[in-house]
Amino acid sequence: MDTDLDAYCREHQQRFVAELIEACRIPSISADPAHAVDVARSAAHIAAAARDAGFTTVDILETGGHPAVFAERVVDADLPTALIYGHHDVQPADPLELWESPPFEPEVRDGILYARGAVDDKGQVWMHLKAVEAHLRTRGELPLNVRMIIEGEEESGSAHFDALVEREADRLRADVAVVSDTEIFAKGVPSLCTGLRGLAAIDVDVTGPARDLHSGLFGGAVVNPATALARIIASLHDDDGRVTVPGFYDAVNPPSAEDRAGFAALPFDEATFLVAAGGAPATAGEAGWTTLERLWVRPTLEVNGIWGGYSGPGSKTIVPAHAHAKITCRLVPGQMPGAVAHQVATAIRGAAPPGVHVTTTVNAGGRPVITPSDHPAVRAAARAMEHGFGRAPVLTRSGGSIPAVESFARLLGMTTIMVGCGLPDDNIHAPNEHFDLDQYARGVRVIARLWDELAVSRGIMHDQ
Ligand code: BES
Ligand code: MN
Ligand code: MN
Repeated sequence: MDTDLDAYCREHQQRFVAELIEACRIPSISADPAHAVDVARSAAHIAAAARDAGFTTVDILETGGHPAVFAERVVDADLPTALIYGHHDVQPADPLELWESPPFEPEVRDGILYARGAVDDKGQVWMHLKAVEAHLRTRGELPLNVRMIIEGEEESGSAHFDALVEREADRLRADVAVVSDTEIFAKGVPSLCTGLRGLAAIDVDVTGPARDLHSGLFGGAVVNPATALARIIASLHDDDGRVTVPGFYDAVNPPSAEDRAGFAALPFDEATFLVAAGGAPATAGEAGWTTLERLWVRPTLEVNGIWGGYSGPGSKTIVPAHAHAKITCRLVPGQMPGAVAHQVATAIRGAAPPGVHVTTTVNAGGRPVITPSDHPAVRAAARAMEHGFGRAPVLTRSGGSIPAVESFARLLGMTTIMVGCGLPDDNIHAPNEHFDLDQYARGVRVIARLWDELAVSRGIMHDQ
């Protein structure tokens, strides 16, 4: 059944898409210092869009890194307050040659918008901006107070976010935080995400000779750094897919029997999963756990990149002077990023053969988080999802990480509901990232409805 808000959203959907396309033209890649100006430009663009949508206070918040955007519209202190969180930075776009249209020249094909950031997270930030606009243009006012913080460093580990939350605590505090930066379980199967994994990141550098050597004159008589690195990495898992790092699983809180039964009851389809996984030939992982358990409640160790030596055409007969790898671990409740990074770094250095030097560097990580699924805001979100998708959502977790969600819980004691509308095969962080425009349209309607549902939910406000 269409409400006044739904009608407004339908009428303006084309412009909503056009605006999102403009936002996606900005290459706000937070990981690459060469794009710092673009991240700043992206913050200014979000700030302007927040003003246009009807937020009253709008500020650019400088951090030790890239800027965030704060905005609010306070209606009445007696009404509940929601804090919207999202991020305006994006992942690097390479390898560029695999994109069917350039990553920062958005293109709609068959009702799908292709661009870096289309769904992660600009499209989902736009769902929120347009939901606020829909309320204000149809009814003149919001049914609750809304604050918003859109971060510029999520994709590079949210290194300055805790400090920002501490500094701006008074302006960020709300009865509930709302994050749209996750995906639904499957097309036609709406879901609410109730847990995220954390992250620990370690770089490895292996050095041997001071320069590349002739492999005929020196190979076989000195340790090859690339071979040493390959052996070290291979030693980090056993044949059952378990991580061999001493103590790695010690702090892990095992899932409850109820959690496992809940996951097993979800309509998981392995073939569909493998398609979303880029046509991977088979699932694999830690023995004794299902695919969803491996993704949601078990920690992992992944090599994100490995390089060294010659990789150009033909052959070049050398012993490379050095070799490198980037490793990240996904963490589950109980595990702490600093402790795990230390365990992994120690194991890596301990596995170094004599004849090379191995150094490790720890990068920014994030802690895992579980959100309470019995919070009244979760029920409000479930009603809003049902309104937008015609079907009540299932409860899921995700294997991904959003450090801010854990920061809100730890630093502000604030519950977050995760109302994301991406799809599992949107290619986030990969070439040809895209946002299904039907999901986008439904997402705006879900969020618009969410403000109505939260406004009338009993027990949302802290002091009730
Ligand atoms: N939006 C993603 C995380 C996500 C995606 C959660 C899909 C659930 C479903 C977020 O932008 C992301 O990519 N986070 C990084 C965080 C890291 C850099 C600390 C991640 O998970 O790798
Ligand atoms: Mn994201
Ligand atoms: Mn991301």
